[in-house]
Amino acid sequence: VTSLRGEIAFEGVSFAYADEEEALTGIDLRIPAGQTVAFVGETGAGKSTLVKLVARFYDPTSGRITADGTDLRLLDRTAYRHRLGVVPQEAYLFEGTVRDAIAYGLPEASDAQVEAAARAAGAHEMIATLEDGYLHEIAERGRNLSAGQRQLIALARAELVDPDILLLDEATASLDLASEAQVNQATDRLAGRRTTLVVAHRLTTAARADRVVVMDRGRVAEDGTHDELLAREGTYARLWRTFIGEGIGEDTPAGV
Ligand SMILES: Nc1ncnc2c1ncn2[C@@H]1O[C@H](COP(=O)(O)OP(=O)(O)OP(=O)(O)O)[C@@H](O)[C@H]1O
Ligand SMILES: [Mg+2]
Repeated sequence: VTSLRGEIAFEGVSFAYADEEEALTGIDLRIPAGQTVAFVGETGAGKSTLVKLVARFYDPTSGRITADGTDLRLLDRTAYRHRLGVVPQEAYLFEGTVRDAIAYGLPEASDAQVEAAARAAGAHEMIATLEDGYLHEIAERGRNLSAGQRQLIALARAELVDPDILLLDEATASLDLASEAQVNQATDRLAGRRTTLVVAHRLTTAARADRVVVMDRGRVAEDGTHDELLAREGTYARLWRTFIGEGIGEDTPAGV
């Protein structure tokens, strides 16, 4: 797999962790190359699991997932993984420098490549504010960085591998408005014209996606654009109204 167009399809996909109940049931989705799809739904609905199957951390219990029409199980796992950018829900940062954290997926990257990736992801300015910049030492699990800073580094890390498919599991940690704006911008730049599956814990992310899929207890409950789902007056419309109702100023929904 040298490169992928990035069309992803789920065909009758079900999945259960070991002897547990099914975490995903009968998923059918066709995601055209280049589309950004946001997955929303309650905790435990199966959003992270669905993304992990695309990353091949697990394979379906039944059904299949294809990339450009080929069953993922028939692709060389290592080569396929090289075409993916994966930003997990809790980005794991090892002790080491910011530079090393960004270069994690491409250890041979030059300093210039690392900086270019950070710039492309919009993380460069934040890094410049850290003591020692790119040589800033990250403490165990990134304790000495804010949630927003950790996310920007994780996004720069994904950018560096220049993936065909981006899998982004948004962190649940809430961000202050400035960090949220930075992370949103970084996410949009990365999603660009790549196929992007983003688990959206922030509805502002869902609202900016090409398409929103609402998951409910392992199944697809709603699937459409933000506007279509609002018009449908279902789960998503309800979530959105709650979100707007909780908005506290001009920075919320109107400007999304
Ligand atoms: N490693 C695991 N082993 C066993 N069960 C798991 C594992 N990971 C998730 N599950 C179960 O699978 C179901 C789906 O979990 P998943 O993590 O996909 O939900 P989610 O939609 O991402 O939730 P959240 O919004 O809290 O991140 C849940 O019932 C969860 O308890
Ligand atoms: Mg999750």
